[in-house]
Amino acid sequence: MTDLRAITVTATDLEALKEAEGRVAVCVTPEGKLSPGARRLNRLSKGALARAVESAGFEKAKTGDVMSLAWPAGMAAEAIDVVKLPRRPSVAEARKAGAALAKVSTKPALVLAESLTRPEDLAAGLALRAYGFTDHKTEKGEAPGAVTLMVSKPDEVGPRVETALAVAEGVVFTRDLVSEPANVLTTTEFATRLEALRDLGVEVEVIEEDRMAELGMGAYLSVSQGSESPAKFVIMRWKGGEADAAPLALVGKGVVFDTGGISLKPAAGMEDMTMDMGGAGTVAGVMKALARRKARANVTGLVGIVENMPDGRASRPGDIVRSMKGETIEIINTDAEGRLVLADVLWYAQEYEKPAAMIDLATLTGACIIALGHENAAYFANDEDLSGAFSKAAAAEGEGVWRLPFGPGYAEQIKTPLADIKNTGGRAAGTITAAEFLKVFVKEETPWIHIDIAGMAKTAKETPLAPKGASGWGVMALNRLVADRYEG
Ligand code: BES
Ligand code: MN
Ligand code: ZN
Repeated sequence: MTDLRAITVTATDLEALKEAEGRVAVCVTPEGKLSPGARRLNRLSKGALARAVESAGFEKAKTGDVMSLAWPAGMAAEAIDVVKLPRRPSVAEARKAGAALAKVSTKPALVLAESLTRPEDLAAGLALRAYGFTDHKTEKGEAPGAVTLMVSKPDEVGPRVETALAVAEGVVFTRDLVSEPANVLTTTEFATRLEALRDLGVEVEVIEEDRMAELGMGAYLSVSQGSESPAKFVIMRWKGGEADAAPLALVGKGVVFDTGGISLKPAAGMEDMTMDMGGAGTVAGVMKALARRKARANVTGLVGIVENMPDGRASRPGDIVRSMKGETIEIINTDAEGRLVLADVLWYAQEYEKPAAMIDLATLTGACIIALGHENAAYFANDEDLSGAFSKAAAAEGEGVWRLPFGPGYAEQIKTPLADIKNTGGRAAGTITAAEFLKVFVKEETPWIHIDIAGMAKTAKETPLAPKGASGWGVMALNRLVADRYEG
């Protein structure tokens, strides 16, 4: 488990600057206006700061960039990091600045935020960009150092920073889960890590295979039958809202490893399929964020945890299984397993949790990466209101989403003569036919969004707030959607 970088808030104390150790960061507006803290640092460094701000380098730097002055004379610190940032930055600018500071160095730092608006977003950037998954490194290197944020109104800023860090903890929880290899994060281990959310006040229920069989979850169980690891259907309830308010249901695909099953995947790149539980990982991260910040809303997370393996007992192409809803499914390709799991979890969510709305997340289709790459997740919605609220929340958090359409022609692609539907729809519009498959298991009256995060859960390149690897994509957008729409 990766600990979140420690960030504390205190009142600005200019007398402390001279002896401060590690790094000292200060914000300077693009116009070169020096705050009281910057003026003090300039005096201590015998004018070095003002010269830096007047330099061509500062002029050329973009908003949120950092310019470092090493070993300033007259100070104990090893560097002054000058951040080019307006006093009223946007959310994205403040986070970029925090991330830029974390990229320069993860040594202990004192950050003069003074009267900067959105210090909580600067803090989020500092915490999230400093992430590294070192659990399986023998030499772990130094953990990121503590940060002290100096602000003019600590009583006001403190709680806001705490909330931002609660959400960051959720993001880091997701990143850790997605980073874990499948021999460590087995289905059982995944369930155990979710059970630990009980310590934060989340009600956690684990449904085992025998009960799933009783419930008639034949689609979900067909994916599990080739694995030595048992399927674990985990339900997490956060009850922070009115006792009688219907919850928002968050559903996640939790395939701890996807070999493709009998329709085996090619060897090249198969190791990436450790992230095929990314949807469940995101749901878990949102639940953690909500619990840590004590959200005043009812939200239920339901994750279908399973491993897709080839085996003598594995399901085969051509098998026909019966879903909990009653719909029969012809399995054309055992590698289209995520939708089989989700079919039963979505149906259970509606039958047993009676949600006000339902959102599922899944690393569902390779086709989604072909369509949108690693810049946007694809989403589908059957409700304009929910769609608008979601895309607004995602935009506010800088998490890219792009809506794709449903349509009767696409639904036609998953028809089969042998059963009610089949689990693949051919090469054309693979992301859409997968969504059409899920839609069969969503009641018309349930406002619903499906998000395909195949290109987003783990990336080969760094993103603004994450080093390369597991991104924790979606935790912030969904946390904000809950705050905007389901809290007071
Ligand atoms: N987990 C994969 C989708 C995926 C691929 C996620 C690459 C992330 C990166 C999913 O289970 C899958 O194998 N989908 C198939 C569906 C096909 C057989 C209809 C695919 O996309 O090829
Ligand atoms: Mn697959
Ligand atoms: Zn998969």
